[in-house]
Amino acid sequence: MPVATVIFDAYGTLFDVAGAARRAAAEPGGERLGTIWPKLAEDWRRKQLEYTWLRAIMGQHADFAQVTAEGLDWALEAAGIGDPTLRARLLALYDELPAYPEVPAMLEALKAMGLPRAILSNGTPSMLAAATRSAGIESLLDACLSVESIGNFKPDARVYALVTAHFGCVADEVLFVSSNGWDVAGASAFGFRTLWVNRAGLPVDRLPAGPHHILSDLTGLPALAAEG
Ligand code: LAC
Repeated sequence: MPVATVIFDAYGTLFDVAGAARRAAAEPGGERLGTIWPKLAEDWRRKQLEYTWLRAIMGQHADFAQVTAEGLDWALEAAGIGDPTLRARLLALYDELPAYPEVPAMLEALKAMGLPRAILSNGTPSMLAAATRSAGIESLLDACLSVESIGNFKPDARVYALVTAHFGCVADEVLFVSSNGWDVAGASAFGFRTLWVNRAGLPVDRLPAGPHHILSDLTGLPALAAEG
């Protein structure tokens, strides 16, 4: 069956989540991040994701804006930084994360092929609206689907079902694209065809369902979608 719809994870897949700390470190007021920004970005991301999984298990949902701020607070404290202005700046920059360089042309190519394109993300609708607008890719997407519709995080199967409900399609017509191995596992288990964007050359996660395809960035995605 040919690919009928292409669905993207947002953070880490279309948007470079290290971009906020990288940019803050280069601005006046961000000097303390000078050499440690990669570690801060890594801690921030790891805690943000851990908190989504833990809140899902605990039945204690809070939206991704709150979880993102709580992950940042842990990372800043671990770095010994107590600077409310810098904290506010880092959170503001999370709404302006850079898209990876190949993203606009890749989305244009899928659009030219007549393939619907959408985001399915833990992000809140307002976070996703801000990020897609800031990156200039808003008009290249048909929808931004947020987990807030169901009030739980990935990899809850009900999140992936938002796609089939929205597009009125069957799961194996969907190509789901994520840089997060655990998200790919959830999407494959749901029945999507999956592409893992493995920019860092990591091993495949040892989870019940794995990726159908692996690329090192998004450049080859239109060709892969065309092959069906
Ligand atoms: C998202 C996170 C998982 O965008 O990156 O859903």
